[in-house]
Amino acid sequence: MTRDRATWLKGGPAACDVQPPKTQRPWRLVLLGPPGVGKGTHAAVLTERLGACPLSTGDIFRAAKSLPDCERTPAMTAAISYMRRGELVPDETVLALVRERAQCMRCPGGFLLDGFPRTVAQAEALQATLKELGVKLDAVLCYEAPVEVILRQVNGRRICSKCGAVYHLTNRPPKAAGICDVCGGPVIQRDDDRLEVAQTRLDAYEKNAAPLIEYYRKLGLLISLDGSGGTDVVFKRTQTALESRV
Ligand code: AP5
Repeated sequence: MTRDRATWLKGGPAACDVQPPKTQRPWRLVLLGPPGVGKGTHAAVLTERLGACPLSTGDIFRAAKSLPDCERTPAMTAAISYMRRGELVPDETVLALVRERAQCMRCPGGFLLDGFPRTVAQAEALQATLKELGVKLDAVLCYEAPVEVILRQVNGRRICSKCGAVYHLTNRPPKAAGICDVCGGPVIQRDDDRLEVAQTRLDAYEKNAAPLIEYYRKLGLLISLDGSGGTDVVFKRTQTALESRV
C-alpha cells in the first residue's frame, strides 16, 4: 500500500489524496533505532499490515532537497546541510516542521513516527503536542542490531530519488538495475550513506539514544526488539510484542 503523505511531506495546507484504510484500531507508534537498522523498511511493512501512516522527518528533508533553492526556506536549506554532514538538525527547526504537520497525528489510520523524536527535548515536545491533540502513543518500538549488520545495511542501501522507495544492493535490489520498481525513477545512494558520514550519524545516535530510551521506558511505552533477520521475522516479533500490550 502506498500513501500519498502530501500533508506530511509538503506541510502547510497540502492535503493527502489517498484516504487511510479503515482499520480495526489506529496504531500510534514511534520507531527508534540506529541509522540503517531498518526503521523505514519496517515502517513500510507496518503500514501495509496495520494501516498506520509512516511519518519520517528524514523524508521531509529529502523531499525539500529536490525543491529549487528559491522554494526552500533558509531554515530548510540549513537543515539540509546538517543532514549532509550526518549531524542532527537543531531541535527548534525539527519541532517547527513537526508542529506545522501536527494534524497528521490525528490521522484516522494512525501513524508511525520514524526518526522523530531523536532527543529528549523532541520527545517532551511530542508528548505536549499529542496532549493538545487529545491522542496517546500506544508504544515506542526500539529496534536493535549488531553494528556489522547496520553497516552492511547502510553501505548497500539505495533509494529512489523520486519517490523515496528503499532498496538494497544484495538484500532487495530493484528488478532493473538503477531503476525504481514503483515509479521508474533513478535509484541512487543517499549522500549521508557514505562511510564517514554514516559513522557521524551512528555517533549522533549513540550520544542521544540512551536518555531518549530511558524517557520512554519511564513512561512505560518502550518495546525493545531484535531488528536482525528478514523483514517478515522482524514484523512477527513486532506484532507479537504489540498484541501482548492490547
Ligand atoms: P533519517 O532519514 O531518519 O535517517 P536515519 O535515522 O539515519 O535512519 P535511516 O533512514 O538511515 O535508516 P533506517 O533505520 O530507516 O533503515 P532502512 O529501513 O532504510 O534521518 C536522516 C538525517 O535527517 C539525520 O541524520 C539528521 O541529519 C536529519 N534528521 C531527521 N530527523 C531528525 C530529527 N528528528 N532531529 C534531528 N535531525 C533529524 O534500512 C537500511 C537498509 O537495510 C536498506 O537498504 C534496507 O533495504 C535494508 N534492510 C533493512 N532491514 C532489513 C532486514 N530486516 N533484512 C535485510 N535488509 C534490511
